[in-house]
Amino acid sequence: MADDLSVDAVGRHLCTRALGRHLHWFEETTSTSTIAMNLGHEGAPHGTVVLADAQTKGRGRMGRSWVSPPGKNLYLSILLRPDLPPTRAPELTLLAAVAVHETLDALGVRPAVKWPNDIEVNGKKTVGILCEMSAELSGLRYVVIGIGIDVNMAVEDFPPEIASIATSLECALGRKLDRSEILASLLSNFERWLDVHAREGFEPVRRRWSECTNLFGTRVRARMTQGDLVGVVEGLDTDGALLLRDDRGAIERVVVGDVERLSA
Ligand code: BTN
Repeated sequence: MADDLSVDAVGRHLCTRALGRHLHWFEETTSTSTIAMNLGHEGAPHGTVVLADAQTKGRGRMGRSWVSPPGKNLYLSILLRPDLPPTRAPELTLLAAVAVHETLDALGVRPAVKWPNDIEVNGKKTVGILCEMSAELSGLRYVVIGIGIDVNMAVEDFPPEIASIATSLECALGRKLDRSEILASLLSNFERWLDVHAREGFEPVRRRWSECTNLFGTRVRARMTQGDLVGVVEGLDTDGALLLRDDRGAIERVVVGDVERLSA
């Protein structure tokens, strides 16, 4: 199986209008998201993609790092210049999760989205998404969506500290996959969802996200900066916040943070 992640290989599969048409490829870089934020500052166009075979300072949400060895996975960051107020930027992280879910679903794994935008396969994390933005009073200047997909990691490739909570597409499917094909398909799906969002707003994304998660009805702990909140997941609010019913029966909104499933 070919697994060539060069600009040429990606270009052969690409059928988007804007996403990936400006592609910056690195054999190794610090973080594709750092590079994409810098490109955004310098005026790079909407749809610019930064892709690396390896990262030395891969960044995750909530100050975590992202394990980024060479020759195995996808590490990419997409620069977007949406016409949205900064308050609506979180909609794009949920949109990214929907596009990645669709891409993995087509490969034959059974992905599930965990709020806000992790993708799990067989109950273990396979994809992480990091959304960063630059805004000023007049509005959003640009957004960078960083996506890490564990593609061809064997069980023994995962560091011990994440081995029990992470998995890859190879582990799920029992075969190696072509990263440039997955990338091209992801960018097409992403662009289509951006079009839907521009035309119809967040509601179709919210509905699709709700179909892609298995969190509804489960008891979770939400870790937020103001402290933890425990409750049963009731749904996704119209702005993308997670709705929890707490033990007193009140509905609480989780706007930023992470959720962890509780057993009962
Ligand atoms: C998470 O914590 O789940 C988000 C992880 C995001 C990782 C990706 S890999 C490509 C891009 N570059 C980074 O430094 N981070 C994101």
